[in-house]
Amino acid sequence: MTDISFVGLSEHHVDSCWQLYRDLANHYEHPIGGNWTREKIAEEIREHFGLAACQSDGEVEAFCLYRQYPERKEIMLVATRPRYHRTGAMRSLIRSLLENISADESVWLEVHAGNLPAIGLYESLGFELSGERPGYYSDGGKALVYQFKRLR
Ligand SMILES: CC(C)(COP(=O)(O)OP(=O)(O)OC[C@H]1O[C@@H](n2cnc3c(N)ncnc32)[C@H](O)[C@@H]1OP(=O)(O)O)[C@@H](O)C(=O)NCCC(=O)NCCS
Repeated sequence: MTDISFVGLSEHHVDSCWQLYRDLANHYEHPIGGNWTREKIAEEIREHFGLAACQSDGEVEAFCLYRQYPERKEIMLVATRPRYHRTGAMRSLIRSLLENISADESVWLEVHAGNLPAIGLYESLGFELSGERPGYYSDGGKALVYQFKRLR
């Protein structure tokens, strides 16, 4: 991953994130999160938080959107451009999030039960299955709820 830097997302990354998400969502066999639009991504970045792996020209190769609640973070969307799949980009982004949680904090996310790459990623980072939401996704698929807690 030469020339890639890890940055906080801001307004000027919106179009690159949207293009990455749209290209992925058009080709992916499972729904990726909710039905994200450019406006929803822009609002999420404006009102909440995001981390990204970026090229020097600002092009986003991988990004993670998350919200901060009292004693809890929730990951809303993660996506890596296919040419960067399996290079460790998303593991690095999520790991930096996990390294900065406080002792009382947990991190939550939902994932389509058929999304094996994402499930493999979360489990490899130490997330544990904590619940299920049948029929949660637009294709009728079940959501798995995963939680990460720092070991005390
Ligand atoms: C899921 C996703 C974000 C992973 O991103 P990535 O940058 O390729 O992941 P990484 O390279 O950091 O992989 C870290 C680990 O995740 C797991 N993993 C990633 N892709 C995998 C795959 N295709 N199959 C199985 N495990 C996989 C592995 O444990 C991997 O470690 P390893 O390569 O040492 O075996 C990427 O596949 C993607 O963008 N998918 C479409 C969007 C999506 O499904 N988002 C999740 C729902 S919100």
